[in-house]
Amino acid sequence: MAEHPAYPVGLRLSGRRVVVLGGGQVAQRRLPALIAAGADIVLVSPHATPSVEAMADAGEITWVRRAYQDGDLAEAWYALIATSDPEANTRASAEAERHRVWCVRSDDADQATAWTPATGHSEGVTVAVLTTHARGRDPRHTAAIRDAVVEGLRDGTLVAPHHRTRTPGVALVGGGPGDPDLITVRGRRLLAEADVVIADRLGPRDLLAELPPHVEVIDAAKIPYGRYMAQEAINNALIEHAKQGKAVVRLKGGDPYVFGRGMEEVQALAEAGIPCTVVPGISSSISVPSAAGIPVTHRGVAHEFTVVSGHVAPDDERSLVDWPALARLTGTLVILMGVDKIGKIAETLVAHGKSPETPVALVQEGTTAAQRRVDATLATVAETVRAEDVKPPAVIVVGEVVRVGPETSA
Ligand SMILES: C[S@@+](CC[C@H](N)C(=O)[O-])C[C@H]1O[C@@H](n2cnc3c(N)ncnc32)[C@H](O)[C@@H]1O
Repeated sequence: MAEHPAYPVGLRLSGRRVVVLGGGQVAQRRLPALIAAGADIVLVSPHATPSVEAMADAGEITWVRRAYQDGDLAEAWYALIATSDPEANTRASAEAERHRVWCVRSDDADQATAWTPATGHSEGVTVAVLTTHARGRDPRHTAAIRDAVVEGLRDGTLVAPHHRTRTPGVALVGGGPGDPDLITVRGRRLLAEADVVIADRLGPRDLLAELPPHVEVIDAAKIPYGRYMAQEAINNALIEHAKQGKAVVRLKGGDPYVFGRGMEEVQALAEAGIPCTVVPGISSSISVPSAAGIPVTHRGVAHEFTVVSGHVAPDDERSLVDWPALARLTGTLVILMGVDKIGKIAETLVAHGKSPETPVALVQEGTTAAQRRVDATLATVAETVRAEDVKPPAVIVVGEVVRVGPETSA
């Protein structure tokens, strides 16, 4: 066959007969996509792998248990020839040629009239990569290009904005604890498609530097709010930009709904009639201890963990936390926003029955290059915070899990 480049095309096989010859590994790899395409699949093969057999048992394919015979391809629109018998493959591809059935041959790409591209999917798009000529066929290279494109689209490093489907509105994105690798794939993609990003002080701020120059980045802490409350000013900024038809990302630290005031923003947007999606994030309450080698639960040590805010002291009338009840729990206590009040908190826990020897760890700026862990006990934590100059943001972990490490076993 002359060395012209292959012509790429998408076959719409729904309800159309596709004949597969051979029930081995090649069929096993190719059948799921043919099934997903809705093809009417007939497998002709005396044997099949257990997975292929399961597809037949489930009624996804029709299995004719015998070797290939001339005439099997007569009614087919498309054929996959993949038996272990080269002579049968050659006869079958001659029959395909006679009947003008496009056919893929697993054993001889040169003789095939069609090639299967390396395919992947992202956001309603199929990425298919083909080698241009038979001579240069390098399936690993085409698969690597497919992976690079699909991964890039998923994680936002390859920017391909949706011009038709992109709807203006706000995405409330949980950015994770700080390490740029710890945002979700969906969050990263939305960030890559944003016109405006309103970001908190916490979260993956390194990602902001990667945004293209046309993206307006607004520091939420610096929004002038005059007579307004800061939160109200942020809500208004979200609404104003969305009303201008822009794709707005509200990038928040951790998860938007863990002490993140996420629902207040969702409510304000709903009142203004602005569409909003919420993308969950990895909360610092679990990931920051984890990054410092502390499991919030451990078999035989802690069967529960409780996450509380320590932003107001236990004796403050605004506190909604039942500290005496927490003192009675045997599991792990994770305190966010508690550095300033940790002295009072430790005192209260001990006064209500927790041992002063209960271990405590403070993890400052977890998952970032500046991460540090300081250990203490409830009796010493106030003094340790002063002496070690522990500063927010920090997650404080109280409980025996602090002492669990690779060298201990339950
Ligand atoms: C207003 S809360 C927001 C929590 C966030 N929504 C989450 O799910 O992680 C801020 C507190 O989270 C904790 N925090 C967030 N990121 C942190 C990090 N990288 N290292 C240590 N603590 C962090 C600190 O306790 C900080 O004071």
